[in-house]
Amino acid sequence: MASYLDSVPMSGIIRIRDMMFTVTSPFRLDQGDVSFDAPDTVKAAMTRAIAENRTHYVQTAGLPRLRELVAAKLRDKNGIPIDDVEHVLVMNGGIHGLYIVLHALIEPGDEVLLPDPEWPATAGNILVAKGVPVPYALRESAGWRFDIGELEAKITRRTRVLYMNSPNNPTGGVLTRDDLEGIAAVARRHDLWVISDESYEDVVFEGEHVSIASLPDMYQRTIPVYTFSKSYAMTGLRLGYTAIKDRAIRDRARKILFHTSSNIASVVQFGGIGALEGSQQCIEDFRKELRARRDFFYSGIKEACGGVFSGRPPAGAFYAFLKINPSAPVALPRSSSSDIAATSPSWSMAEYLIKNARVGCVPGIDFGANGEGYVRFCFCRDRKELTGALESMKALFGADVRAG
Ligand SMILES: Cc1ncc(COP(=O)(O)O)c(C=O)c1O
Repeated sequence: MASYLDSVPMSGIIRIRDMMFTVTSPFRLDQGDVSFDAPDTVKAAMTRAIAENRTHYVQTAGLPRLRELVAAKLRDKNGIPIDDVEHVLVMNGGIHGLYIVLHALIEPGDEVLLPDPEWPATAGNILVAKGVPVPYALRESAGWRFDIGELEAKITRRTRVLYMNSPNNPTGGVLTRDDLEGIAAVARRHDLWVISDESYEDVVFEGEHVSIASLPDMYQRTIPVYTFSKSYAMTGLRLGYTAIKDRAIRDRARKILFHTSSNIASVVQFGGIGALEGSQQCIEDFRKELRARRDFFYSGIKEACGGVFSGRPPAGAFYAFLKINPSAPVALPRSSSSDIAATSPSWSMAEYLIKNARVGCVPGIDFGANGEGYVRFCFCRDRKELTGALESMKALFGADVRAG
């Protein structure tokens, strides 16, 4: 029996989502889902594919044209030295990519280093693959980056993989080229595989996005994971991809791809072709608007609840990961109907905001022990929703301050 799965936690994000469905007129700042629509190039390509009855089984690794476009993108934009389109595998979004890549790389009991805080599906997928998640700290004081000495000290003889995620969900931290060179040196020294989750590669406001697989000799030990979800606002369509140079690992990954999905939805893959063949202006437009929303949200939250939360605007991604001021004059419930909110300040704050301000957010503890004391708001929602959430929090915290 697969009883080991009983100890794999469900993401708290799902629990929050369920709570939000019970709220009337909610502000969904818990959701990492952009409010933009997919570009017309994607929709037109999918409509055409349906009209032409492209609704049958297709190649397991992906449509040849899509793989060709992806290989060219990885070469030209990410600087990854792919010399064969066969390296590319098309998958059902980044989360499926992580599942496949982890299963292709690790044996039960193998240790996988991952940032803390980190998007919960990473630890979840490591556990589903029977691996052992070993967190390395990201520090707010360092722009949510890691200390390479501290990271290296976590390596044991069971460590096989180092997972990294830049720009990071939930902190918005962006690693520098120096950080990546540090990781590359550690990976070479200890003969580790690197999984580089680059889901937010196009959402960088300060600094640059560097793909670690573009550094000398790194592609052979790095598996980069990408998604169309964030760059092309295609979250519900489920499309992602990777490139694996190593033949044996790639063959294993392809088997898992086949046994979990046979092939990725044909019509969606045509949408991906439309996205990559079409103008890339939408990426620039999304980034510009997200930067404006970031600045709008940060100045708004300072005004609405200045004494309650603190934090600097992130360099990338679209999350405000804010520290809860422990001495803020906020009437948080002392006891709660839920066990977790009684022991976790970040759950307590999240439940408080959902129940009293209709504002969704995710408790920091859900992203790892280092996230306790923080909450994550998503500022990729439209301006009306952001404004409503800020007004609602202002009314709530204003009342608390008056009462206190
Ligand atoms: C860090 C990170 N990786 C991967 C994903 C996967 O996205 P998707 O499965 O929609 O491609 C997400 C989604 O929020 C994410 O935050």
